[in-house]
Amino acid sequence: MYRVVEIEEVVTETPTIKTFFFRDNSEPQPGQFYMIWLPGVDEFPMSISYIGEIKGFTVKRVGAGTARMHQLQKGDKLWIRGPYGRGFRISQKKALFVGGGSGMATLAPLIDMMPGDVVIAARTRDELLFRKRFAGRKVYLATDDGSEGFKGFAHELVEKLLHQEDYEIIYTCGPELMMRKIIDIAISKGIDVQASLERLMKCGIGICDSCSINGYRVCVDGPVFFKDELVKMKDLGKYKRDKAGRRVPL
Ligand SMILES: Cc1cc2nc3c(=O)[nH]c(=O)nc-3n(C[C@H](O)[C@H](O)[C@H](O)COP(=O)(O)OP(=O)(O)OC[C@H]3O[C@@H](n4cnc5c(N)ncnc54)[C@H](O)[C@@H]3O)c2cc1C
Ligand code: FES
Repeated sequence: MYRVVEIEEVVTETPTIKTFFFRDNSEPQPGQFYMIWLPGVDEFPMSISYIGEIKGFTVKRVGAGTARMHQLQKGDKLWIRGPYGRGFRISQKKALFVGGGSGMATLAPLIDMMPGDVVIAARTRDELLFRKRFAGRKVYLATDDGSEGFKGFAHELVEKLLHQEDYEIIYTCGPELMMRKIIDIAISKGIDVQASLERLMKCGIGICDSCSINGYRVCVDGPVFFKDELVKMKDLGKYKRDKAGRRVPL
């Protein structure tokens, strides 16, 4: 069930984010994820951030598992299974991509395949991910502290851009509160929206229910959800499930 892949290159993207490149025969769609197992440490879900012969995971250091991953180097091994879940659906509509923090990792392979403008948001300029990856298209930067680009939250910039351009669909991935605001804006303006959600995952294949939200299992029904599903998700931006499965405020 697991495949062992060798890390071929490690790129430091920001002070807290690294990309790990590897070869693997699987054929993921943008928005799909893998489970990465580091024996003796942890197993965790990770989106594919580069698709092709050489693939990539772009990993933010948050807890023990991702901290260990950040110590890995060229030649070290990863145990992976996947790709899992439902990815993004490519659309012919005029698109705006909105990625916050490490959420850009999930959106990036989709952006590589589709036209559209891009919003890259982060707390501060050092954490803006993939700012050079999307040459030849409009890329808007936003930082919470105003250290680069628009000063403020991503959804505030999105509201501004919607006055300037007739976007027909928004693709988003990032902090849950950011996505909640962007989904609400899209719904109120009658714009289509797809969002890649994060929930705590254990099995990654629909068995344990630890990733459930309002009747959906994020690992198999998502992680990408469409507008007609997102409107039903009353817990999004309000409640999550903790490691014991309890529904707790976000
Ligand atoms: C579908 C999906 C795609 C993701 N893609 C990316 C990505 O491309 N880049 C990135 O940096 N991060 C991504 N994440 C978040 C990443 O999985 C967590 O940051 C990571 O699991 C934290 O593990 P840890 O051991 O460092 O932290 P800890 O908090 O110590 O985690 C302990 C355990 O909790 C689980 N867990 C903790 N946080 C999360 C979380 N947010 N989502 C799911 N399980 C969690 C892990 O399975 C882990 O076993 C994704 C999450 C999901 C659900
Ligand atoms: S992670 Fe087990 S059901 Fe989704």
